Amino acid sequence: MELRATRGMHDLWGETLAQWSAIERKVKSVLESFGYREIRTPAVERIEVFSHTVGEETDIVEKQMYTLMGDVSEKLVLRPEGTASFVRAVVEHQLNASGRAERFYYYIPMFRHERPQKGRLRQFHQFGAEVINDPSPEVDAEIVALLDHLFGSLGVKEYAVRVNSIGCSECRPPFTEYLKTYLQSHAAVLCEECRARLDRSPLRILDCKKEGCRAVAEKSPRILHSLCVACRNHHEGFKKRLALLSVPFEEDPFIVRGLDYYCRTAFEFLSNLLGSQSALVGGGRYDGISERFGGVPFPAVGFGLGMERLMMVLEQKKLLPVVDRSPIYYFAALGEEAFVVLYRVAFELKKRGVGIEMSYDGEKRLKSHLKQADRLGSHFTLICGEEELKRNTAILKDMRQGTQIEIPIQNLDEELLRRAGIAT
Ligand code: HAM
Repeated sequence: MELRATRGMHDLWGETLAQWSAIERKVKSVLESFGYREIRTPAVERIEVFSHTVGEETDIVEKQMYTLMGDVSEKLVLRPEGTASFVRAVVEHQLNASGRAERFYYYIPMFRHERPQKGRLRQFHQFGAEVINDPSPEVDAEIVALLDHLFGSLGVKEYAVRVNSIGCSECRPPFTEYLKTYLQSHAAVLCEECRARLDRSPLRILDCKKEGCRAVAEKSPRILHSLCVACRNHHEGFKKRLALLSVPFEEDPFIVRGLDYYCRTAFEFLSNLLGSQSALVGGGRYDGISERFGGVPFPAVGFGLGMERLMMVLEQKKLLPVVDRSPIYYFAALGEEAFVVLYRVAFELKKRGVGIEMSYDGEKRLKSHLKQADRLGSHFTLICGEEELKRNTAILKDMRQGTQIEIPIQNLDEELLRRAGIAT
């Protein structure tokens, strides 16, 4: 039986993984410089964590969750997204107790049983950032501006920031009824899925990409015209602060997000480099969902950035970092006696962080050692055999210049550290 990775889930290694790690470090350093601290939650949660927040009738909960065998009394799932787990953790550990704005981020794999396609995986990785305890539009604008800065610092320009407000529990229900009446009168044109959604989640129809639904949505009533005064002020404040921070954005009434917990601000970063799965980032405000876990309500806002999609954009624009994994030194020991000397020196230097490759094959001849050093791209090759040992030295060959010098064995550690730029 041929065993392969599960569909929609990928192995990562070598240069690609090194590039991922470099980008991960960059994203983390930007988040940390803006005061975000890391939080890690388990990959497995009880199903209620998502059904009570993301929503029973969303695609994620209805169709995409991986359920697990567990205790019969509890249904466990692999997390399909991070916000609900985050809120569960905040309530459980009272991370909101200070009452002050608190910033958190996570970088974790997520699991959605969707049909895999370009940019859509079943296991994908998300950077999430969440700010709790601050209801102000300033914080919404700050996180959008943070993303804009992050992409700028990675050299990415090919995206559009789309913003919307989807109102609150005061103004959304009457708007939803109004929208429903409009959509019902065009039901015949809607796709089958949207017709089924009509009663339960009419807002989601605005998000459908099918042509017929799109045409109906274009002429639909706009939620921005139905916002209550508080939501309208919040949205205007958000846009004013975005302008103050010089973030270009477009208002888009069709950004409604596919998860139930949002209120007021909703935004996405879309990139036409991504094909049909064009969302690089999705986020928004989700005040008060903690109540669904029996916690006191607190305001919150955040985003999720898909790492696979970010890497796709960076790759297409040739912005991936060049990761040089070649060692500084290749050690070529010819014979057991020389091996004993170089083996110890190699270990001492590795402890100091010097990149060294050494073959443990005692039969290897000088020619094949040099070939291997070349293949690995090492800067220097240290050669030691019987002849050198007689003189109590080793030869250091500069592979790029073609020059070589002799170094006394007793000075090897010091000399090699010095050449690697490490103080002795
Ligand atoms: P989301 O829109 O479901 O939001 O996902 C956020 C991002 O994750 C997407 O824009 C995309 O880059 C990536 N993503 C989602 N699904 C996939 C997939 N199947 N394959 C590859 N990448 C994917 C959330 O998850 C919210 N929790 C975001 C949030 C945080 N809102 C507030 N705080």
